[in-house]
Amino acid sequence: MPFAHITGWGMSVPEPVLTNEDIAKIVDTNDEWIRERTGIRERRIARETEFPSTLGVEASLKALEVANLAPKDIELVICTSSSPEYIFPATACVIQDEIGASKAGAFDLLAACTGFIYATNMAAQAIRSGSIKNALVVGTETLSRFVNWKDRSTCILFGDGAGAFVLQASEKPGGVISSVMHSDGSGANSLILPAGGARLPATEATVHEGKHYIHMDGKEVFRFATRVMGQATREALDLAGLTTDDVQWIIPHQANYRIIATAAKYLKMPLDKFVINVDRYGNTSTASIPIAAIEAFQKGQIKNGDKVVFVGFGAGLTWGALVAEWTGPLAVARKPVHPERYRFFARIRSWARRIGRIIEGLFARKEL
Ligand code: ACO
Repeated sequence: MPFAHITGWGMSVPEPVLTNEDIAKIVDTNDEWIRERTGIRERRIARETEFPSTLGVEASLKALEVANLAPKDIELVICTSSSPEYIFPATACVIQDEIGASKAGAFDLLAACTGFIYATNMAAQAIRSGSIKNALVVGTETLSRFVNWKDRSTCILFGDGAGAFVLQASEKPGGVISSVMHSDGSGANSLILPAGGARLPATEATVHEGKHYIHMDGKEVFRFATRVMGQATREALDLAGLTTDDVQWIIPHQANYRIIATAAKYLKMPLDKFVINVDRYGNTSTASIPIAAIEAFQKGQIKNGDKVVFVGFGAGLTWGALVAEWTGPLAVARKPVHPERYRFFARIRSWARRIGRIIEGLFARKEL
């Protein structure tokens, strides 16, 4: 059975920064309150021209470059997002088209902030089963579009960004070692975007009542999160036959500094073994774990051969953890790939297919 290695990674965050002081000009809050209760100082907010796919494409191309893999080598694209581009089609299909992953199947996976753990596990399972060799997992968000900027209890928390991993099959041991996934739908109402789906389709009334925004019972989510983060980490480590002493880094979902500190206490681990960057990005939902991991690698904290645990929680309620050995790119002799070139050719290919469909439609009409 092949092993599923994380061989490429890329992140993308929008340039515009929204600080706590900026938010204090919009709602009744202040920098001190936000920092004390959450650890957040600032977050990135997507420009009007940026979407989950825009950020996701940039992160994906960087991940392909690190893995030295061409888009056509990818057989599966899983995009996970709490702020997808549309209900359908899947954001994964938009990304697949824009990067030119012409041989890949693509779908979205919805597990809120736990999505990246679920998606990485699903991609790893597909690789380990032998059905595919190369997969791309993307967590991407423009959650700022679903935040009620008049609600001080939620608008301080969220930010935009994307992170992507390439996973590849190899006979060399390492990569994803174990994973646990959990859900408890009885807590669905504690964190919900009530309108815009089939239960409460968009109407003037739903818009007027602000039901297209994130609604959250912060205290309940906080209690749930502090309970499950440590538990899920332990479970995944047990499954891997490892203990906290065997692990170099814990990469938690970046929702709140206090939640991470409570998990560290539960696990009896020093907080400096936890990667934390919630201060600069806020909660980027499905993108928070890959962004934290990538920054830690780029800073030289995570090194090849390190054992790491990704652990997260989110709406659903969902939670989970994944243990992996960070092995880095596979040593395969091949010419360096240039993803930017692929992006150009992908655009031409996409337009050619669109024009082809129009011509095909014209002939089909004549035949009827
Ligand atoms: N600025 C100033 N005061 C505020 C603010 C604010 N931004 N927000 C709330 N307050 C006030 C409240 O009105 C309340 O005032 P009152 O005592 O007069 O009623 C007081 O501060 C305390 O409010 P609490 O809600 O009790 O504050 P708490 O300490 O619980 O912190 C927070 C709130 C930060 C939201 C916390 O509960 C939390 O982090 N929860 C977890 C949220 C989370 O992680 N969500 C993401 C899940 S992942 C996903 O799937 C998207």
